[in-house]
Amino acid sequence: MRVCVIGTGYVGLVTGVCLAHTGHHVICVDNNEEKVKLMKAGQSPIFEPGLSELMQSTYQNGLLEFTTDIAAGVQHGEILFIAVGTPPLPTGESDTRYVEAVARGIGANLNDGYKVIVNKSTVPIGSGDWVRMIVMDGIAERQKVLVGAGGVEAAVQKIAAEFDVVSNPEFLREGSAVYDTFNPDRIVLGSNNQKAIDLMKQLYTPIIDRKYAENPSLPPVPVVETDINSAEMIKYAANAFLATKISFINEVANICDRVGADVTQVAKGIGLDSRIGGKFLQAGIGWGGSCFPKDVSALVHTAKDYNYTAELLEAAVKVNQRQRLIAVDKLQQELKILKGKSVGLLGLTFKPDTDDMRDAPALNIIEELNRLGMKVKAYDPIVSQTGLRHGLSGVIVETDPERLADGCDALVLVTEWDQFRTLDYAKMAKLMNHAVIIDGRNFLNPKEIEAAGFRYVGIGR
Ligand code: NAD
Ligand code: UDX
Repeated sequence: MRVCVIGTGYVGLVTGVCLAHTGHHVICVDNNEEKVKLMKAGQSPIFEPGLSELMQSTYQNGLLEFTTDIAAGVQHGEILFIAVGTPPLPTGESDTRYVEAVARGIGANLNDGYKVIVNKSTVPIGSGDWVRMIVMDGIAERQKVLVGAGGVEAAVQKIAAEFDVVSNPEFLREGSAVYDTFNPDRIVLGSNNQKAIDLMKQLYTPIIDRKYAENPSLPPVPVVETDINSAEMIKYAANAFLATKISFINEVANICDRVGADVTQVAKGIGLDSRIGGKFLQAGIGWGGSCFPKDVSALVHTAKDYNYTAELLEAAVKVNQRQRLIAVDKLQQELKILKGKSVGLLGLTFKPDTDDMRDAPALNIIEELNRLGMKVKAYDPIVSQTGLRHGLSGVIVETDPERLADGCDALVLVTEWDQFRTLDYAKMAKLMNHAVIIDGRNFLNPKEIEAAGFRYVGIGR
């Protein structure tokens, strides 16, 4: 099928590349010229395991194209994905201006033939109808230019009948985005038109049939066919549930710390109950990234708009804000006076295997440590390697873990990068003023770390 994906970030680029890999002809559109230049040269603008390789192979076989020209993309595609960002406004609401610009651009460039306009961006509930309206506005504006005010209504009616809007929320995780795209737990399709849903199912057939899945013999991927509002709500509810689950285990961890229980054992013990499930019960310094914080806040805000206070979700956010600074509390307990001391952060990104720093707990930790007068250094496999500083300030980025440890009074493990399991901790301990490590992700083996000469402090263990 002919596909256009507008917005080539973590979601759009992965979606475009994976759909091209399954045999569709995909044009990816982005208004960032630098990004498009890079992608045309066969390079991925983001770090995501497996993406570069897949991108290069599909690009070479001609099924993947990149452009800044939205008209070319819209006229090529029978399926048009909107995959631009919906970042948070200071109020917590979702900033939908990029979606609006794209919907208008689609309307202004629609050509003949039936099109499905797919909202893949995470958008406030009710955005399906709003996108339809903006596309119609875009069409009307073009018609005004083309035929003058007199002919507008009839022209809009004619073209309006030729597109439908589908909500198809995305559930991929950064760091495993390609894997998640080929191995989804479900595909959600929200529309009031069966023809649009059927085309979407046709588009996803290779994925539904697990042609590119790790285990192709599993039954087909479940498809949830529903109305647009419910599809939009599914996305928010899924993220809000997972974020609340993490805040829950973090709260339990804080109680464990006080009563002398081990949260990793507690998580195992409750996670084996199939009604609870063992995933997303990893206690630590809280959830971050470009989705959980903004999506939970947006849902709280939507509830407020409709005169409801989402108390459980507000509490989940509050627990998370406090949890982000739990490592600082623990540092204080260990070192007493922090002013003038040095701390080394192991990891900066909000999770491993990504270069994304959006709303990373590290940012709050650095700010607080600076406020308390500490010298902050960090080593992160991606940030240190790429030299990208992602707007970081108040932190010296070191090029290797041993330089990081040199002269530090404590280390804080912020991101559970795999390579942090096998560092030469004995050597690092010798380079430090005080060999203390706060394991903000309960990632390391306490016995091994203590054997290397460290005092080990976990979260709730
Ligand atoms: P991103 O910021 O990484 O990428 C957005 C891209 O859109 C950028 O490349 C930007 O240049 C481009 N863009 C902006 N305006 C444009 C325009 N008018 N025309 C063409 N391109 C334009 O965003 P992302 O992380 O991929 O997220 C996209 C959406 O998907 C958001 O709504 C997000 O909530 C949702 N989502 C993200 C994830 C994730 O893990 N990142 C997962 C699920 C859903
Ligand atoms: C999340 C959702 O999982 C995904 O379905 C959605 O599409 C986008 O948002 P992502 O933000 O990429 O994905 O990462 P995820 O693995 O969910 O982790 C989010 C945050 O929660 C990270 O900061 C991570 O460290 C934290 N986390 C996760 C925990 O603290 N404990 C856990 O048990 C799991």
